[in-house]
Amino acid sequence: MAHKAYLKFKNLLPASLKEALSTVNQHFFARRTLKRKYGSWFEVDWRKKFRTMSDEDWIRAYDDVWKNHHNDCLDETDSTLVLEAISQARHRTQKPITDILEIGCGYGTLAMAMTKAGYTVTCLDVSPEALRKAEERARGENIHITWKQGFAENIPFPDKSFDVITCCHTLEHVKDLAATVQAMKRVARTAIIVLVPKQRFRLYAENYHTQFFSSQEDLIRAFGLARYECIEIDCIEHEGEFQGEALFYVGYVE
Ligand SMILES: C[S@@+](CC[C@H](N)C(=O)[O-])C[C@H]1O[C@@H](n2cnc3c(N)ncnc32)[C@H](O)[C@@H]1O
Repeated sequence: MAHKAYLKFKNLLPASLKEALSTVNQHFFARRTLKRKYGSWFEVDWRKKFRTMSDEDWIRAYDDVWKNHHNDCLDETDSTLVLEAISQARHRTQKPITDILEIGCGYGTLAMAMTKAGYTVTCLDVSPEALRKAEERARGENIHITWKQGFAENIPFPDKSFDVITCCHTLEHVKDLAATVQAMKRVARTAIIVLVPKQRFRLYAENYHTQFFSSQEDLIRAFGLARYECIEIDCIEHEGEFQGEALFYVGYVE
């Protein structure tokens, strides 16, 4: 509640004042505040270190995230938006859509919503702990999903395996953006749906973000697809872990 009020208040400030406050916070307070808030499991220097991190360390770091912190960013509104985008993609391309790969599934919120809507869903996440939690949750609701551990940069499925790829609140976490985009385009038959926070680089933050999309153009350029839709969405009132401004992209592969 207090966080939402703070976000609303911050949004009312002129951009230059927001920027100045953020710079002061980054220089003098952020690192110490985060260390105190999260404790030893949280890698406060993630943005300095992530480029040289091994795959094993990456997996361990995200397992620690899922053991210590509930990282379910999506809320119902986002799931509805994704489901609408899938229907639109079917109408637009006149291609059937049945098989969906959800990348960075986390706690499985979107995967479960898509399965309930009748799609056959496969989930990929780097963290075995996230997959374990999501699988347990889905089993509790009698929902069948295929779970796979792996990296978005090196998607462990053959070319054109899925009609649609969804990737929400995850593209900003990958080590190699170009490799991830290439892998997504390789396994998609029809459309790629992406949701990312709209944000600029800050060295210290409450999350392990590595890629920053400050405008629609950043996302559009990253995928380089000729046919796409991209909009800004306001998630400040959302119930999930994430509250803020975001970008929503639907790209069509030929
Ligand atoms: C912020 S969570 C988002 C989870 C979920 N999509 C949501 O919106 O609630 C990011 C997820 O990406 C996963 N992840 C991080 N790096 C990854 C990578 N390189 N490949 C695949 N998944 C990754 C994490 O384990 C985590 O589950």
